[in-house]
Amino acid sequence: MSEKIKTVRGFRDLIGEEARKYRFVVEKIRNILEKNNFEEIILPTVEYTKLFTRSIGDATDIVEKEMFTFQDKGGRDIALRPEGTAGVVRAYIENKLYADGTYKKLYYEGSMFRHERPQKGRYREFHQVGAEVLGTINPLADAEIIKIADDILKTLQIEATIEINSLGCKKCRPKYREALINYLRQHREELCEDCQRRLEKNPLRILDCKVETCKVIAQKAPKITDYLCDECKTHYRQVKEYLKALNVEFVENPYLVRGLDYYSKTVFECVSKELGKTVIAGGRYDYLVEELGGPPTPALGFAAGVERLMLLVKELPPKKPLVFIIPFGGEKEKIEALKIAEKLRQEGIRTELSYREGKLKKQFEYAAKIGADFAVVVGENELQSGKFPLKNLHTREQKILTLEEIIQTLKNLS
Ligand code: HAM
Repeated sequence: MSEKIKTVRGFRDLIGEEARKYRFVVEKIRNILEKNNFEEIILPTVEYTKLFTRSIGDATDIVEKEMFTFQDKGGRDIALRPEGTAGVVRAYIENKLYADGTYKKLYYEGSMFRHERPQKGRYREFHQVGAEVLGTINPLADAEIIKIADDILKTLQIEATIEINSLGCKKCRPKYREALINYLRQHREELCEDCQRRLEKNPLRILDCKVETCKVIAQKAPKITDYLCDECKTHYRQVKEYLKALNVEFVENPYLVRGLDYYSKTVFECVSKELGKTVIAGGRYDYLVEELGGPPTPALGFAAGVERLMLLVKELPPKKPLVFIIPFGGEKEKIEALKIAEKLRQEGIRTELSYREGKLKKQFEYAAKIGADFAVVVGENELQSGKFPLKNLHTREQKILTLEEIIQTLKNLS
């Protein structure tokens, strides 16, 4: 026998119910975003590697360890996108979406790639639905973005805690950075190897380290909220007021820093206790557009991890009832059954035509096996009388009805 080829480690097939759950989650989020007047943007899956090193930051785990990078045939450095924000910003600048002076509300959906150690809720190819607002500094936008995350959780009936923080701006963050480095230097020897290296280059990352000894040190570190300038303080206060006005529950976590470097001011994460992971996350990135060569443009957004949300969705809405059409006889009956199946579908009824030959008993068994709710036999007698047995495969009850009556009965159930 030939060797069987498996999926690549960290990559998955989504089959049957899993695929249905995927669509369910994505559709719910899309509906919420469309209601909020976000427009879809469909982005390429690959970008030049430097887009990500320059935006996410070269001292982050994503860029240091997790990017799928390669050279194309022209020797250019390319990466499978690890996230969507950088691509949206690149598209915003490249297509001059700022030119008409309106702010832009864009959303995207698709695969992201990170070479992480696979585990439950962590894959090397995963999917995000993300939304970005470009061109406003108004804290109303921060509150609305967090409210959308809250709406997604409520709509999917998922419990998660919304944690928020402010990471300050170019004015106030350097002072905090200095205070943080001073504190961390006193504990240099106790930090993990990665964090010792991060100490001078990217000390905020240390607050996000998952190593136990680093976590203990981080718990006593100075808090960024004590160092915010007046502008950032006011912005943060307004965001919290608006969230309260919207009845969005949140907790403040002064050590929340996020895993990407482009953030400023508001950041947030929706953390699921059940999963022990963040399911939706985002924040402001007021300098990123400018850093990538565009005009100064404050912006913010979030991304929802589809697989993580899928793990927490308990129930899917039932499918429409399925009717199984069984041709019984010869060519004539097959052609009539073919036409009847088509008619039912045109009426919006989920219909499958039997491709099986053989005894009715076997046909009914097959119908039950594929989860059909009803079966209709199309035989010579039925065609002559214009009446067909509609068999309920759950109750075994059978009614003799005209095609019109069958359609009405099934439509009333859908
Ligand atoms: P992120 O926190 O890196 O942010 O990812 C957002 C979400 O994607 C996470 O909360 C998680 O649900 C999901 N996720 C991340 N990595 C994996 C993985 N390996 N397997 C499964 N799910 C995963 C961003 O990507 C930012 N671009 C969000 C943003 C948009 N900020 C502003 N705008």
